[in-house]
Amino acid sequence: MELRRLGESGLLVSAVGLGTNNFAGRLHDEAARLVLNEALDQGVTFIDTADVYGRGSEEGTGGSESQLGRLLAGRRNRFVLATKVGMPMTESPLERGSSRRWILAEVENSLRRLRTDYIDLYQIHSPDPQTPIEETLRALDDLVRSGKVRYVGHSNFAGWQVADADWTARTEHLTRPISAQMHYNLLNRGIQAEVIPACEAHGLGIIPYFPLESGFLTGKYKAGGEGHGRLAESARAGEIMSPANFERIGALEALAQERGHSLLDLAFGWLLSQPIVASVIASASTPEQVRANVAAAEWRLSEAEMESAAAL
Ligand SMILES: NC(=O)c1ccc[n+]([C@@H]2O[C@H](COP(=O)([O-])OP(=O)(O)OC[C@H]3O[C@@H](n4cnc5c(N)ncnc54)[C@H](OP(=O)(O)O)[C@@H]3O)[C@@H](O)[C@H]2O)c1
Repeated sequence: MELRRLGESGLLVSAVGLGTNNFAGRLHDEAARLVLNEALDQGVTFIDTADVYGRGSEEGTGGSESQLGRLLAGRRNRFVLATKVGMPMTESPLERGSSRRWILAEVENSLRRLRTDYIDLYQIHSPDPQTPIEETLRALDDLVRSGKVRYVGHSNFAGWQVADADWTARTEHLTRPISAQMHYNLLNRGIQAEVIPACEAHGLGIIPYFPLESGFLTGKYKAGGEGHGRLAESARAGEIMSPANFERIGALEALAQERGHSLLDLAFGWLLSQPIVASVIASASTPEQVRANVAAAEWRLSEAEMESAAAL
């Protein structure tokens, strides 16, 4: 497994990571254990979760972290563990966002659920318009200094917010964010306009989420309604499985096949051919999916192939 530096930091993450927003909710402990064991066997060491994952499951919000805590017991140090804070955990306006008060409280909850005394990458899940970025960065900096958090990152920031956070951290001598987790895949390239240039200028690595557009980029869903999985049951199904997107998928699959590859190879390869992309954190339902995803991550596209894919 290729290891990549996350941004300009010294943190090495596996080029294929594992997202766990399906843990606790869609995967019970035994199914999740199989996925995690296979990931480790395949050299996947970067795991992404969030305090909020598990919402709607029996275990409730925090379920993904709690399940990971159970499954990582005794082997925590073999993984680079990323989690997030900021999404609403309850109805209360006090239990969300990135105020100093909430970050310092919620990190303790995440550490307890994950059964660890440190988080490798602590990410602000989304911008909080109510809290000055300096307050957020200072709280994160305190966590780094205390040893509870090793590195900090953010997610869903606009380009100007990436720049603002970095400049604030630099001028205030606070820990600088090293990563931006963003919705990014062959079908969804909105971050190319502002966020990627901002990350390049400020030395952040990109962690693409929804790298398979929730499974659509595996090619298993067909226009006639064939194919099942979480996307078919999701609120995003109608928007993603549109006639126009089926047409794009067809063209992308043809491009991959002309070069002896699959659509899945193209989905991973297109992301990993961009040096700014650090780790592709697809979730998986089964060990077979983990294996397929790791095998799909080999292809590095030429510049001409990248341009052809981008034109579709
Ligand atoms: N920062 C944020 O705001 C944010 C938002 C969303 C997600 N995330 C992170 O990004 C991670 C990935 O997102 P995601 O899981 O929602 O989307 P995704 O990675 O695009 O899709 C993953 C889903 O596709 C299916 N799949 C995966 N590999 C497959 C294969 N080889 N063959 C066939 N089907 C396959 C599985 O579902 P089925 O088997 O059910 O089809 C799997 O759960 C999350 O776990 C989370 O860590 C972050």
